[in-house]
Amino acid sequence: MLVLGIETSCDETGVALYHTERGLLAHALHTQAALHAEYGGVVPELASRDHIRRVLPLTRGILREAKSTLSDVGAIAYTQGPGLAGALLVGASIAQGLAYALRVPALGIHHLEGHLLSPLMAKPAPDFPFIALLVSGGHSQLMRINGIGDYELLGETLDDAAGEAFDKTAKLLGLGYPGGPELAALARQSTPGRVKLPRPMLHSGDLDFSFSGLKTAVVMQVKGRTLDATARADIAAEFQAAVVDVLVAKSLTALERCAVSHLVVAGGVGANAELRTRLDKAADRGGFKVYFPPAEFCTDNGAMIAFAGALRLSRSTAAKTTSDGSFSVWPRWELATVSHR
Ligand code: KG4
Ligand code: ZN
Repeated sequence: MLVLGIETSCDETGVALYHTERGLLAHALHTQAALHAEYGGVVPELASRDHIRRVLPLTRGILREAKSTLSDVGAIAYTQGPGLAGALLVGASIAQGLAYALRVPALGIHHLEGHLLSPLMAKPAPDFPFIALLVSGGHSQLMRINGIGDYELLGETLDDAAGEAFDKTAKLLGLGYPGGPELAALARQSTPGRVKLPRPMLHSGDLDFSFSGLKTAVVMQVKGRTLDATARADIAAEFQAAVVDVLVAKSLTALERCAVSHLVVAGGVGANAELRTRLDKAADRGGFKVYFPPAEFCTDNGAMIAFAGALRLSRSTAAKTTSDGSFSVWPRWELATVSHR
């Protein structure tokens, strides 16, 4: 069966066609980064309006690429939450409208479920149970994934998400939005250690995170100073090292406490090269396996939503019900409450 996936939870419009037997046939992404850049962050109303403009042309494009038509689509998966209410409503209404017209099921997918299942698209795929480190612009969580639809929260951020901390620190260093990739690039021009920043909650004994204090420590470094290029790069490198130290240490603790040997890293910060290198090294030493989605599927995309929809269809009879056109979106939604029954 051909599943159309639609992702519109924040500032990226992603669409994809995933075939339950043939795999991913086509996907396309439009990022709104340039649209929001001058405001230094996402403007929700602009995001919604842009999604409206993009979803259908992008969908026509991937249907052409996959040499398919709308009548070949057997189900439509869309991001139902969490995310920006208006942005979610665009994807949900288009998905439900199309599904109603085509008389096919429409499946509301949890955005983070899309992220954490995305490494299963690749071969070799992780075995259940695995630990998922979900690090995006809105979330930082460690979860134990017992199976599809069986998610247990182990720890999460008490304040800013890791990606949010990257974005805010990048802004303090005069970099553009989204700041994560730009800060990582600046960090490559320096070595960490010349500036000292804290590793928040490294020894807290639990699996929670906190990143807002780290951002405040950066504020103290930049306040009242004119920083030259080297000084900015030093701060960027040390900030990145601090975040990576904490993420790596807590991931290792989660693996150990749960006696699990597979770790999946998902979400936009999972594209961070330093995090990948450090986790790869820890895996070599620690005898566990670490899985990253391909970099293009780390950040928001339609493929992960189409794929999660395909998995849901294969497991749940309720998921096969044809859309009646009614729907709601859930801007706030705990992943641990998702089930596939
Ligand atoms: O998963 P995602 O695309 O969107 C959300 O669901 O939030 O994650 C976006 C976040 C942003 O905060 C962005 O700065 C961060 O991921 N990010 C990175 C990198 N690429 C994206 N952070 C650090 N290093 C990167 N290479
Ligand atoms: Zn995301």
